[in-house]
Amino acid sequence: PDAIVVRAAGKLFVAGEYAVVSPGQPSVLIAVDRYLTVSLTAGVDAGSIHSPEYSRMPVRWTRGVDGLTLDREHHPYDYVIAAIEAAEQLRASRGLAPRFFDLRIDSGLDDPSGRKFGLGSSAAVTVATIAAIDAFYGLRLTLRERYELAMLATIVVAPNASGGDVAASTYGGWIGYRSPDRDLLRRARAESGVAGVLGSPAWGDAEIVRLEPPSGLDLLVGWTGHPASTERLVSGVSRGTNATSTDQTAFLAASRACVDDLWRALSRDQDAASADLALASLRRNRRLLQELGARSGVTIETDRLRILCDAAEDIGAAAKPSGAGGGDCGIVLAPAGADLAGMLRAWETNDIRHLTIGVHPPEGEH
Ligand code: MEV
Repeated sequence: PDAIVVRAAGKLFVAGEYAVVSPGQPSVLIAVDRYLTVSLTAGVDAGSIHSPEYSRMPVRWTRGVDGLTLDREHHPYDYVIAAIEAAEQLRASRGLAPRFFDLRIDSGLDDPSGRKFGLGSSAAVTVATIAAIDAFYGLRLTLRERYELAMLATIVVAPNASGGDVAASTYGGWIGYRSPDRDLLRRARAESGVAGVLGSPAWGDAEIVRLEPPSGLDLLVGWTGHPASTERLVSGVSRGTNATSTDQTAFLAASRACVDDLWRALSRDQDAASADLALASLRRNRRLLQELGARSGVTIETDRLRILCDAAEDIGAAAKPSGAGGGDCGIVLAPAGADLAGMLRAWETNDIRHLTIGVHPPEGEH
């Protein structure tokens, strides 16, 4: 039989980082036209996960047992394994017999030389693995169910992840996102299994809304050349901030107000004022993240991100670090007529690479 080949898009955060880790706080993301591919072929008497980047690793599971028995020592495949476990639990709940399969993972999200751009390969591999298993067993999951399954898998590996990257990779296009309460989800999964959590009230304030691209603004992405560890940055910020302090409450309120403006600016009925609202919102969000960094003692906006963003603001554009900061990419929204060539020259002088990345279009519901 032929291989099932699915690809999942990478992502970039546009706004709302760090705040979005708190359930219900709004953020904005885009899916990008760089992809990770998972190819699934039916296995005979074993399953496996394989990627050119890592060594081959055998995956075993026991027929008749709830879920899989897997070798947990191979860190690179944690997200894949968590995705298989979640999908297999759902498969079992539908009364379908387990089957063996081989997974091959090819990431086109990073630099050909292997350096990470920070485009969300963990989310993409989780989303693609779920989609491949969905097709293999004929589960016919909706986009929302794929997101929920991939989110449940993600928080096994990264307990505090907001899942914005999972949502963007699943839905495509520009999205607005609010995260669920992950503790609640873990408890619900423990109590009622994966099938019982899908579509349940445990998702609380989680929300994914489709937004429109900003009309009259160009989106540009700069890469600092320095890979950053989201996990390290997020735990550093959470250690460095007191969750119940007035500063943190003020940060969440300001981020919410600022991202709410961006949601409005990216709505279906954009008008002449929308582009300015989007630019102002992005600039404000940059300042909020600078303050958060200063307050928590974590360098979110590194020197290179500062240069990248300043060069954009110098030409009348708006810019900020995308995602956790500490390196990786910066994102720019530039009004028509801005001196993009001037900005790109400044980037080049400072060794900041312009990534020619576009938005992956919204996925159709099926
Ligand atoms: C990292 O890509 C974005 C953060 O908001 C963390 C998260 O959303 O899980 C900093």
